[in-house]
Parts: sequence; structure tokens; C-alpha cells
Amino acid sequence: SGPLRLGLAGLGTVGIGLVRMLEREAALIAARAGRPVVITAVSARDPKKDRGADLSAFAWETDPVALATRDDVDVFIEVMGGHEGAAKAATEAALRAGKHVVSANKALLAHYGQPLAELAEANGVALRYEAAVAGGIPVIKSLLEGLAGNRIKRVMGVMNGTCNYILTRMQSAGLPYETVFEEARQLGYLEADPNLDVGGIDAGHKLSLLASIAFGTKVSFDNVELEGIGNVSIDDITLADDMGYRIKLLGVAQMSGRGLEQRMTPCLVPADSPLGQLQGGTNMVVLEGDAVGQIVMRGAGAGEGPTASAVMSDVIDIARGFRTPVFGIPATELADAVPARSATP
Ligand code: NDP
Ligand code: HSE
Repeated sequence: SGPLRLGLAGLGTVGIGLVRMLEREAALIAARAGRPVVITAVSARDPKKDRGADLSAFAWETDPVALATRDDVDVFIEVMGGHEGAAKAATEAALRAGKHVVSANKALLAHYGQPLAELAEANGVALRYEAAVAGGIPVIKSLLEGLAGNRIKRVMGVMNGTCNYILTRMQSAGLPYETVFEEARQLGYLEADPNLDVGGIDAGHKLSLLASIAFGTKVSFDNVELEGIGNVSIDDITLADDMGYRIKLLGVAQMSGRGLEQRMTPCLVPADSPLGQLQGGTNMVVLEGDAVGQIVMRGAGAGEGPTASAVMSDVIDIARGFRTPVFGIPATELADAVPARSATP
């Protein structure tokens, strides 16, 4: 068959990472995909910006919806961000036009995962999103494929590198939250809206996606109990340290007899545990299956290379013909996520 043709919407950190990976590893990727993988067209807001990569071979579309529906695009890659507007419109347009979609957009999927999954499956195309959770850690594939025979008991983890950077830096340097927050801003770690990071929202988006796959329920971000790190003081951190604990923004999702529990809150973890020792912008995801037991995955949750790694793995899966249901079982068969607290008398 001919090349698999990508339409790339977004030429920022992730998009340019993908362009560079394809330039560098075209032969390896073609061998693994079973056919050449090429970018045919791209889109971003500013056509004049110097992006540090040669884009001259690609057609330019100002409108991401036009890009998503081009005849010479087989797979639409959405790495623009934002859960409304262009990202949502272009993703829907691509799926309706029968294009496969690869997305890094956890916010979009956390809000609209169910209708988008139904649209993809009704149109017989793939919607993959490995980069949306924990960056380079292949946690979604692990749940969808490697652990498909297990009843998942619990999903847990640190899923926002920025918060982990802030908390570990407060602890190691003894600096107050405000100072380290400013450092993180200067280092370019914070999202355009920093509350997505420090408010726990970004991590909550990620947890809600994992919970859906793990427990066969519709994505239910609204039911994630959220508390960010803005109220964690240096005194809290010092006190925890004195008792042999670290404070982490920890996500936990589990199904109990009362329903689905999803929490993303600052928690105490033993300082000498794998979670307690997690440094800087790293992520860690802990999966517990009834047959497999506990699996711990640790790695880079963000950045050009790790995110391109995850996006490319989805592209290669699509080239190989994998059509796993978006959340592991057909979207129309996912159960409603009954939040545990609503069942409490
Ligand atoms: P950037 O802000 O670096 O890049 C976004 C790109 O999208 C830019 O090229 C921008 O154009 C383009 N864009 C934004 N809005 C529009 C629009 N309305 N129409 C056309 N183009 C648009 O973001 P990232 O690369 O960091 O992130 C992209 C996605 O990946 C987000 O969903 C993010 O949450 C997710 N992600 C990012 C990770 C990371 O490490 N950065 C890790 C995991 C997920 P222009 O350049 O002209 O402004
Ligand atoms: N803002 C996110 C983080 C980026 O800090 O983890 C990766 O999703």
C-alpha cells in the first residue's frame, strides 16, 4: 500500500517534535509501520513563525478543519490544545470525514471523550491518545492491550510534572510555593493557564481517561474530586518531611461497591517509597490488576521527545491496522460512571 499520510494540526512543542522524529527516523518508522509515513499538510496560527524545522515540503492550511478533511490526509494529528474551538471542531470533522485521529489533547478527551469515541467507532476509524496521559509513558496501551485480561483494581499516580517539580523543589530547597511557582513559570513549565497545572485540573483530566479504560465506564471528569497544590505550604512540607513523608499531587481511581472513586489531591506518601522518591517533572503511574498484581511505570510526562514518542506509537498502530475501541470496549457499551459519593446515605 502507499504511504500513510498525516495532517498535522499544531506546530508547537509536540508538533515540531513529531516533524523532527519523522525526519530523523523515516526508515525505522516505515519498517515498523509496514509502509512509509509522511506528513502531507500542516496547520498553525502563524504561517510566518520560524519553528526551527524545514516545513517547506508540506502544504499549509490556515484552517484546521480544512486540514482535517483534505483528500491527501489519512490520519489527522491534533496537537493544538484547548478543549473547545478549533481542536474540537477539527477532531469532529476528521472523524466524520472517515479520517483516523491521533490526539495529545487530554482536556478535549476528558470533556468530550464519549461523543468523540462514538463518532470514531460509528465511522470505523481509530481515535488514539497515548500522549494525552503521562507523556512518554505508554500507560494507555498497557491498559488497552497488555492488561486486557485483567480486572483492574486500582489506577494511581503522579500525572502532572509541573506540580511534581514545584513540590519536590519546595521540599529540597526549602522555598515557599510562590517562589517556586515563579521559577516554574520562568522555566516555561506552566500551561498558558497555570491553574490547569496547579489546580490539579490537567492531572484530573488524565485520571478520568485512565479510569474510563480501567473500569469500562464513560469518561467522567466532572466526578473527579479535585484539589490542587496552591494551599500546600512550606510548613506542611517540612512537617511531612519530619515524619518521613513527602507530599505529592496523587491521583487514585478505583471501583468500590459504592461506585467509582476518582480523586486527584495532595497526599502524604512515605519518603522512601517509589512515589515519595519521584523527583522533578517526572510522572509515575501505578496499575493494579487482579491477575498481574502491581505494575509501576515511571518516566517523562512531557517534553518534545517523550510526547512525539507517544504520538508516533499511535500512528504506527494505525498503520498496522489496530482498531481497538477508543476506551477498550465499544463506546456504546461503556457504563455510566456512578460516583461513589452519590451512593453515600
Ligand atoms: P504549543 O502551545 O507549544 O503549540 C500549540 C500549536 O497549536 C501551535 O503551533 C499553535 O500555533 C497551534 N494552534 C493553537 N491554536 C490553534 C488554532 N486555533 N488554529 C490553528 N493552530 C493553532 O502546545 P504543545 O505542543 O505543548 O501541546 C499541544 C497539545 O499536546 C496540547 O493539547 C497539550 O496539552 C498536549 N501535550 C503537550 C505536552 C508537552 O510536553 N508540551 C505533553 C503531553 C500533551 P502557533 O504556533 O502559530 O501559535
Ligand atoms: N502541564 C503538563 C504537566 C504537561 O506538567 O505534566 C504534560 O501533560
